Order: sequence, then C-alpha cells, then structure tokens
Amino acid sequence: MAKTLVVGASGQVGSHCVAALAARNDIAVGTYKSHPRPGLIPLDVMDREQFATIVREHRPTTMILSGGLPEVDYCEEHPQTTYAVNVIGVRNAVEIANDHNCKVVYLSSEYLFDGDTGPYDEQTPANPLSVYGWQKLAAEHFVASFARDWLIVRTAVVYSLESRFVCWLRSSLAKGERVKGLIDQISTPTYAPDLADAMIRLAQQDGRGVFNASGSEVISRYEFARTAARAFGFDPNVIVPVKTAELNQRARRPLNGGLTVEKVETAIGRRMLDCAAGIRAMTASAPRNQAGDCAKMVS
Ligand SMILES: NC(=O)c1ccc[n+]([C@@H]2O[C@H](COP(=O)([O-])OP(=O)(O)OC[C@H]3O[C@@H](n4cnc5c(N)ncnc54)[C@H](OP(=O)(O)O)[C@@H]3O)[C@@H](O)[C@H]2O)c1
Repeated sequence: MAKTLVVGASGQVGSHCVAALAARNDIAVGTYKSHPRPGLIPLDVMDREQFATIVREHRPTTMILSGGLPEVDYCEEHPQTTYAVNVIGVRNAVEIANDHNCKVVYLSSEYLFDGDTGPYDEQTPANPLSVYGWQKLAAEHFVASFARDWLIVRTAVVYSLESRFVCWLRSSLAKGERVKGLIDQISTPTYAPDLADAMIRLAQQDGRGVFNASGSEVISRYEFARTAARAFGFDPNVIVPVKTAELNQRARRPLNGGLTVEKVETAIGRRMLDCAAGIRAMTASAPRNQAGDCAKMVS
C-alpha cells in the first residue's frame, strides 16, 4: 500500500504536503527536527541509524525530502554545518531509500541559477551564486546519480499564511510600519498548497526527472508585497521600493530568477497558480486588516 514519509513536516512545504496527502486519504508519516507538532515523529537526517529505523518500521513507498536548512544567509555563514544537513542528510536519505525500494522526491530551488536570464526551464545549466545554491546542486547530484527512483522538484519563493515572510508582512503593516520591498529581485512566487498538490500528483506518476513547480507569474518581491498587502486590507503604498544592494544581504541572490512551469503543467494536467490566484486563496480565510498569527508560523 502506498505510504509517504514527509521529512520536514514541521516546516512550510512539508506541513502542506502532509495536509494535501491527508485530504486525499493517503497514508502519510511526517517528521520534525526541533519543532514538535502533533502527529509528527522526530528525525534528524544526520542520524543515519534513526533515519533507517524509521524507514524500516514505516516502510514508505515515497519519501518527500522537504527537510533541511533553507536560510540562505545562514548557509553562507555556516557552510560546513549546513552542508552536513543539506547535502550529507540527502545522501543518507538516498542510500536508505534505495535499501527499501522507496522513491525519493527532493525539493530543490531556483537558487541553482545566477539570475541573469530567468525564468529558467529544467534544461538550463546551473550556476549558483551562494553556498545554499551550491548545496542544493550537490544534493540534486546525489539524488539524480544514485537514487533508484527519484524526482527533483524545483521551486521558488514559497508563501502561505504561516510563512515567515507573510507573518512578518502582516504584523508590520498592522503596526503601521513601512515595509521594504525589493524591486530588483524577480521570481515566480509559489503558493505552498499549490506546490504540495503538484508534488504529490507528480510523485504518484511513474517516471523520473527534474520538474519546476512554482507560481506561473514572474513578479518582483516589491509587487508581490503590494498585492499581498492590498489583499490583506492594508494600504499597498506603505511598501517602500528598495534595491538588493541597499540591504547588505550576506549571500548573493539571483535577481532575474524564477522558473518556467510548462513541463509540470503538462504532466499534472492543470495550470500552476499565478500570484493573484495564490494570494486570493491564501487570504480567503484571513481576517482583513489584522496581524498574522505568528504563533502558527512554521519554522
Ligand atoms: N521556502 C522557500 O521559499 C523555498 C524555495 C525553494 C526551495 N525550497 C526548499 O524547500 C524545502 C523546504 O523548505 P521550507 O520553506 O518548508 O523550509 P522550513 O519551513 O524551514 O522547513 C524546514 C524543515 O526541515 C526540518 N529540518 C531542519 N533540520 C533538519 C534535520 N537536520 N533533519 C531533519 N529535518 C530537519 C525542519 O524541522 P524543525 O522546524 O522541526 O527543526 C523543518 O521541518 C527546503 O529544502 C528548501 O531548500 C524552499
């Protein structure tokens, strides 16, 4: 019987994967590392024995790897500790999955690319600008080279009511604070439930390969923040346009980034959401003009 192990189910993408699997009545087991949530079991991908025991006991047919350390500046500052989780942890997963005939679905990123000529399709050669980007590329290499059955799903700027960015945006706007929006970081923001649905549909098909699964609209972070502010009932004019160079971010970012989605749309037989539709879905249940409930924020 099909069963999915979601590694990193206490995080943003993983929690939506578990919810999407539950909504289909599919059997899922989710893990957390440092933020326990009801129903999840502890797992550190660095602990091979613990990892192998979980897979031996639960016998998943698919493993979604949405666990790891995705903070780009933190990776830049801590290349070795983050390599251990983001790359060696994925190697552990691949080896354990192979021992148990389990398919690996690995979450990757637009940060593989340099941001000169986005949005990027699945064929474009990678050229990362940051430690995080190199770690994602190295982990992809492990998955594509050594996993018996695998999918790589690349995504970009994932958002949901529980995401750090959306919580921070709503809280700042509710306090009447001005918020900086980057005009020169362009991407294809992705609504987390839409990503989770696409990933699960892909995972349930036969076949291997690399798929982009992101929002379908190319937009700056500034325009995205304005659209979200408006949808939450705030004045979008308090978003102040700034350039990346003004922020002194530790790691370099791909500026003209984003991903194309034709391949995934053909494979799953539906369109990926654009920003307006994703933000509409996100705000449908949120009270207007109020701060986010950051107690529900995922790590
Ligand atoms: N968010 C984005 O915009 C974005 C864009 C492109 C790609 N991605 C990729 O998508 C994946 C998921 O991202 P996300 O936004 O969901 O991240 P997230 O919210 O930070 O969640 C990360 C998850 O990984 C778990 N984790 C951390 N260290 C671990 C370890 N040593 N062993 C096992 N699990 C560990 C965390 O558990 P605890 O919280 O319990 O510690 C959490 O459940 C990442 O691989 C990321 O690179 C994300």
